[in-house]
Amino acid sequence: MILGIETSCDETAAAVVSEAGEVHSSVVSSQAELHSPYGGVVPEVASRHHLELVLPVLRRALDDSGTTMGDIDRVAVTQGPGLVGALLVGISAAKALAWSRRLPLAPVDHLDGHVASLYLGPNPLAPPFLCLLASGGHTLLLAVGGHGSSERLGTTLDDAAGEAFDKGARLLGLGYPGGAAIDGLAREGDPEAFRFPVARVEGLDFSFSGLKTSLLYTVRDLGVAEAERRKADLAASYQRALVRALVGRAREAAELRGLDSLAVVGGVAANSELRRALPDARFAPLELCTDNAAMIASAARYGEMLPYPHYLELDAYASLS
Ligand code: KG4
Ligand code: ZN
Repeated sequence: MILGIETSCDETAAAVVSEAGEVHSSVVSSQAELHSPYGGVVPEVASRHHLELVLPVLRRALDDSGTTMGDIDRVAVTQGPGLVGALLVGISAAKALAWSRRLPLAPVDHLDGHVASLYLGPNPLAPPFLCLLASGGHTLLLAVGGHGSSERLGTTLDDAAGEAFDKGARLLGLGYPGGAAIDGLAREGDPEAFRFPVARVEGLDFSFSGLKTSLLYTVRDLGVAEAERRKADLAASYQRALVRALVGRAREAAELRGLDSLAVVGGVAANSELRRALPDARFAPLELCTDNAAMIASAARYGEMLPYPHYLELDAYASLS
């Protein structure tokens, strides 16, 4: 059994996953509401709340799975990328638990974790496949050759897709985090009402900052009252442009690489229009799209494992290596 811990951003999460990839429990405590008044995650607030939540969340994950620490064979924890103060809370908890039980510890890259959400039961996906990873912090196209090995084909030159959703939501007064709010409101709007541009950048990269600026100008030109009246149309059209950009690049990459299997992971993979636009693609289950610890435990099955006690100096890292 693997005990996974994830604290890279504003979700405190713990999960128990078997070596075969069965999820025995997955507990996610989101702090989103806490950060909402600030329009984004406040790192110091996040760290303090991880500190309060990490032990109750861990206890709950063990209870829900019907296991005790005695049943755990190794501990897996997100090492980065993410907020360093937040990551350190999870890493410290993982070290203490592993050390006290003389267990090995697996440091996991958060992005490998998102990809490994596809490897969990009951219907795990097998490489090779092309993976679109779209979250609040990253937008990547990966050629996944094997479990734990991938080649980066494209990334965003500015904002991440989830960040574009969040910034758009903020402009429309929908609060933070905004992806799900735009998704919901867009259902009541006309996606063709406004034509927002999809940036054409070279290769297989993405760019979303122009789209956000275009929404800003459109809202400003409409004026407060009219923008409020047409909020659903704005949300639907903005979402349409974002989805079009993601789908276009993913299809291009699949063709270029001759990969007919496409998978989508990360928070934005929860988007209903994206799911509709790629009917043949494999999407991570909804509960595993946004940050969770089951995906971290899953990735630990394929990555590095540090034997007891050679992990006490393990440090967090903030950004992509
Ligand atoms: O993977 P994730 O939980 O955290 C990071 O690793 O960043 O992704 C969070 C992102 C946020 O930007 C959020 O707005 C977005 O995923 N998101 C969505 C939806 N649900 C969450 N974006 C679009 N549509 C959704 N339904
Ligand atoms: Zn994530």
